[in-house]
Amino acid sequence: MLFHFLADPWINRSRHVDPAALASVDGLVPAVAVTGGSSGIGLAIAARFAKARQRVALVARNEERLAAAAEAVRQRTGQLPIVIVCDVTDASAAKAIEERLRGEGCYLDILVNNAGAGSGGAFVNRDGAESQAVIDINIAALTRLTRLVLPDMLARGRGGIINVASLGGLLPGPYQNVYYASKAYVISFTRALAFEVSGQGVRVSCVAPGPVRTSFHDAMDSQRRALYRYLLVWSSPERVAASVYRGYQLGHPLIVPGLINWLLSKAAGVLPYFLAVPLMGMLLHPGTHHDRDGGTK
Ligand SMILES: NC(=O)c1ccc[n+]([C@@H]2O[C@H](COP(=O)([O-])OP(=O)(O)OC[C@H]3O[C@@H](n4cnc5c(N)ncnc54)[C@H](OP(=O)(O)O)[C@@H]3O)[C@@H](O)[C@H]2O)c1
Repeated sequence: MLFHFLADPWINRSRHVDPAALASVDGLVPAVAVTGGSSGIGLAIAARFAKARQRVALVARNEERLAAAAEAVRQRTGQLPIVIVCDVTDASAAKAIEERLRGEGCYLDILVNNAGAGSGGAFVNRDGAESQAVIDINIAALTRLTRLVLPDMLARGRGGIINVASLGGLLPGPYQNVYYASKAYVISFTRALAFEVSGQGVRVSCVAPGPVRTSFHDAMDSQRRALYRYLLVWSSPERVAASVYRGYQLGHPLIVPGLINWLLSKAAGVLPYFLAVPLMGMLLHPGTHHDRDGGTK
């Protein structure tokens, strides 16, 4: 709350509120919708906002996991979140989320674009559909949802968008190439958007976590052999969520959770590509030796 009040004068410096937009949500409760809210980082972010007594909604595809996640948030915070069964890659996802929230007496105040997909291994050996799925969720769905919900937030002069990228988005990532490139897009897109809307009362932040203990990495490196798994410092989803909450309240355009990750992010900015790319290749290679196909032999 304190952080919010410290940052508010700057974030609202050229805010223009449309009275009709405010009237359209009169009597409704502002809500935070977290895509991919049924596990890992999304679940922890939802619980952090619920702990701050904000109404939260969890969005994901699997209904059973959503119900279990909602119960976990209730046990941790006392609030049972709204659950929204929805695939964010559907063109109608934004409408489905907003309609469901209205049905619960709420409106979308903060959108956390956290749902994401990963893919690992040498590019030519991966199924093209798998790479496309990463682009569809990490880039296309995030961009579409942002475009559909942002105008109403600007008209109300409040609310915000938190896009979950990755520290990996700061450098090319051999053997996780499409994933890293998709997160580079998220960082570039969100930072540019944050500049475009700055001062209008809406917070736009990007999050770049380092490795976090969730089930996410199993999809990228099924044999668990890549060096990065052993050499980098792993965080808990809860620590990431605490940084996200604080950074968002302060209106930071790029939130890098953890001191070591922050130092790595600075190093990524100065390390020349001719050193950084082979180094990333060594860290991300999924095999025990460097076979040319990046396979998991
Ligand atoms: N874990 C890390 O080390 C790490 C590091 C940096 C950044 N990140 C980023 O953090 C985000 C969350 O990762 P995580 O580690 O928390 O992963 P996770 O535990 O595997 O959770 C992924 C969540 O996304 C949901 N999801 C997947 N596809 C979806 C879709 N099409 N529509 C709606 N929901 C969908 C999943 O639920 P359903 O399958 O039921 O839909 C689940 O709730 C991702 O964007 C990831 O790139 C992760």
